[in-house]
Amino acid sequence: MGKHTDLIHAGERVSLGESEPLTTPIYETSTFVFPSAQAVEDYQAGRTHAYLYSRYENPTVVGVEEKLARVDGAEAAITFSSGMAAIATALLGLLKAGDEVVCSAAIYGGTFHILEDLLSRFGIRHRFVSLEALGTPAAVLGPDTRLVWFESPVNPTLRCVEIAPVAAACRAAGVWSVVDNTFASPINQPVLSMGVDLSMQSATKYLGGHSDITAGVLSGSASLIGPLARTRRLLGGVLDPQPAFALGKSLKTLPLRVARHNSNALAVAEALEGHPALAAVHYPGLPGHPDHAIAKRQMSGYGGMVCLDVAAGQAAAYRVFDRLRIFQRAASLGGAESLCSLPVLTSQYGLTDAELAEAGVTRGMMRLSVGLEDAEDLIADLRQALAAA
Ligand SMILES: Cc1ncc(COP(=O)(O)O)c(C=O)c1O
Repeated sequence: MGKHTDLIHAGERVSLGESEPLTTPIYETSTFVFPSAQAVEDYQAGRTHAYLYSRYENPTVVGVEEKLARVDGAEAAITFSSGMAAIATALLGLLKAGDEVVCSAAIYGGTFHILEDLLSRFGIRHRFVSLEALGTPAAVLGPDTRLVWFESPVNPTLRCVEIAPVAAACRAAGVWSVVDNTFASPINQPVLSMGVDLSMQSATKYLGGHSDITAGVLSGSASLIGPLARTRRLLGGVLDPQPAFALGKSLKTLPLRVARHNSNALAVAEALEGHPALAAVHYPGLPGHPDHAIAKRQMSGYGGMVCLDVAAGQAAAYRVFDRLRIFQRAASLGGAESLCSLPVLTSQYGLTDAELAEAGVTRGMMRLSVGLEDAEDLIADLRQALAAA
């Protein structure tokens, strides 16, 4: 063989003999080799299990999906190249022209825009309803409603929706219920066990846990995930083996990390409640939070997100933000590093005072993603920064 041929074919698919790797390797391959036409036919006819092409299935990715299904208590889970790819695939895979989506008004901006700007062009209608309206869920369903999409806790106020009654009302009406469980994670809030049909998460956040990958996940019954896996093939928003490997590695410590996010966030919220520079500390684990009772019923931990409301308003919040030393000034959440973002400059950017009031958001709000550092250091950082308020 010539050098070109050897360099391409030699040393690939090295046999491991009698041993096997402890962890699932990164199968960095876009396609899979079959020994014969008969083997391809057997695979296509469903007589054998094999891998054909990584946009369909890849062993590294499938391994991670098995872990995700377990942690969600789901029959099946599928991963995506981002949370948005998961959202787009779920909505396009389940809905058709003429269908209506009922969506919580307090929702991630990307979900809002995909409904408002994109799906509306294809005849898929939507109606936003308040968190209060979701409290009487049967009343929000219309004759064309096919799907209800909501979050709990919501960004940035961390208000909560009672999940089980919404899921029950949807099931009774033959409507799919979907929860974006990114903020809580299934460790704190196992939404499928509450009767929800589909759980969606941005795995970029707590599941990935180290602010170094972008990924998404949908989980639910095999009868729902199977067709959505076929939609994923068509839309193509699959997770590559490299970030899948990083995600799988992170999932091994998910319960440990979430427990520490929970305890650190509670410590921060309790330490700062009543601080003279703050009009409010929003955290569902505080007894004074308006939805503490709901959160207590459906969450085993209250999560790592805390929202501080600087009483003196936007300019003071900017000063506090600029003085942070350990909290990093960055969007996103769920990683080991504590982050801070200002809703007026991110999720609620450009809204009028009336629109902010409608969303329950103030100009002085600072959203914290409380990380895994020492709680005392985080509290000291926030206290020194708040001196600038
Ligand atoms: C609640 C929530 N859902 C969905 C998304 C979208 O996920 P991704 O950025 O991984 O596409 C985000 C991202 O911030 C989010 O916070």
